[in-house]
Amino acid sequence: MSLITAGIDIGSTTSKAALWIDDRLGPCSIGPSTTNPRATARECYERVLREAGIEARDVACVLGTGYGRAKVSFADDNISELSAHGKGAKVLLPSARTIIDIGGQDTKVIVMDASGEVLDFGMNDKCAAGTGRFLEFIARTLGIGVKDLARIHASAAYQPASLSNMCSVFIESEVINLVNEEVPLASIVQGMHQSVAIRVAALAKRMGLVEDVVITGGVAKNTGVVDELERKLGVKVKTFPDGADPQMVGAIGAAVIARQKYLKRSSK
Ligand SMILES: Nc1ncnc2c1ncn2[C@@H]1O[C@H](COP(=O)(O)OP(=O)(O)OP(=O)(O)O)[C@@H](O)[C@H]1O
Ligand SMILES: [Mg+2]
Repeated sequence: MSLITAGIDIGSTTSKAALWIDDRLGPCSIGPSTTNPRATARECYERVLREAGIEARDVACVLGTGYGRAKVSFADDNISELSAHGKGAKVLLPSARTIIDIGGQDTKVIVMDASGEVLDFGMNDKCAAGTGRFLEFIARTLGIGVKDLARIHASAAYQPASLSNMCSVFIESEVINLVNEEVPLASIVQGMHQSVAIRVAALAKRMGLVEDVVITGGVAKNTGVVDELERKLGVKVKTFPDGADPQMVGAIGAAVIARQKYLKRSSK
């Protein structure tokens, strides 16, 4: 019989569930976070259970993580995002030593030793600049969606518009000025990605970057940001092999830790 565990990552922007079945990844689910995290967590969980064709009683251990982890009322326990992201990244890319997680609200840098032990971590200050929320906010101002940013970034020669890298409200008015000056959209988007990368790279460099560097969180899907980060850091920023979803890493890590906890408990 299979040993099935689950990880539920309730982030500020999206809620994710992942199943870990024996030694491989099972179904995953992602949806927007809502003002009712308890219900959202349950819906997310039920989707993966349905997809796997199993019931909650078939799952040996469930761990919650992320901003809303305490709201995962059906979980056996909850764990920090650092442990969850560290474990998830290590499982998907064993050579990972530095993780840059750019989510909706937080940007985190986690440095691990070769065995996956977390050595150090840093987080953005309270300002939204340098986060996914900032990208959403400016994309809305430009009348485009976050999913279009990478394509637009790559649609013209690299000529990033210069932005001040101050707070997001200042950058928004700068972006409106650039639009009025008829600066091409691709240049504005490249400039915006550059401003995110400058902030994130400064944080990562303070942490003492160790390769391999890998990027997680929803913003990892924006290749414009990934390219800019590589430029600013001067190292390769890896994504996960086999098309593994970088946004699911926290939930996957929680599911793997749930398996380890269950095995430890049952060996006592
Ligand atoms: N397909 C996509 N292309 C580009 N960007 C994307 C895409 N999907 C999501 N994003 C970005 O990812 C962000 C959300 O990331 P994620 O789901 O990792 O956040 P979260 O875990 O809820 O937040 P946090 O960890 O800060 O609490 C969005 O704000 C958006 O900028
Ligand atoms: Mg997150």
